[in-house]
Amino acid sequence: MNWDAARYQSGHNYVYQYGADLIGMLAPQPGERILDLGCGTGQLTAEIAKTGATVIGVDRSPEMITEASRQFPAIQFLVADGASFVLDRPVDAIFSNAALHWMKPPQPVAAAMARALKPGGRLVIEFGGKGNVQSVLDAARTVLGNFENPWYYPSVAEYASLLEANGLEVTFAALFPRPTELKPNAGMDDWLRMFATPIFGTREDKIAEAVEYLRPKLCQDGVWRVDYRRLRITARKNN
Ligand code: BEZ
Repeated sequence: MNWDAARYQSGHNYVYQYGADLIGMLAPQPGERILDLGCGTGQLTAEIAKTGATVIGVDRSPEMITEASRQFPAIQFLVADGASFVLDRPVDAIFSNAALHWMKPPQPVAAAMARALKPGGRLVIEFGGKGNVQSVLDAARTVLGNFENPWYYPSVAEYASLLEANGLEVTFAALFPRPTELKPNAGMDDWLRMFATPIFGTREDKIAEAVEYLRPKLCQDGVWRVDYRRLRITARKNN
């Protein structure tokens, strides 16, 4: 999918604003080498870099990486796929916010992350978990019939097993609701155009139908809140 990096940043910057919290769990140290996987326009990569760690931002989208490099020229950014990226040296930690649900299938991504970590290295990740944006998926099913779900939303048990099978020991895991308020200038229709293109394409009639399906569930007093559920996990690569 092609990303509109400017629209992402102006209308949907809550994506990385929520992720700031996760940097606390990462606790980056000066001199560490850290990978930000699925870095988007690089705002959190830059926050991590402020701590004195050396950060590498990786994203599959050339549009996002162009924008990230423009805004943060001192940071190394690479266009690469989560399933096949290779770093020249292993890292002390991998951080990923709101990105892993786009990376399907998940097994090669978990294997690539495990390969990229030093023994004892840590993984600090958050993404959509089981039940994430269920209303949007229900709306799509209602207005389109069958469609291919572009996202991967695992349970705690499923993702913890996947990490363990790849030599990573899970040290913390939680799945929790985080209703996400949309900005008045970027409502549900904009969300669907920005993030659900793989489902709706440019079918404006279907987007409008989906918005009306979702209105009674997700819109109160004119404010849209999308039913996000986050899976937050930390893990450590076995020595
Ligand atoms: C999420 O962050 O959970 C998400 C964002 C866009 C599309 C689907 C899920």
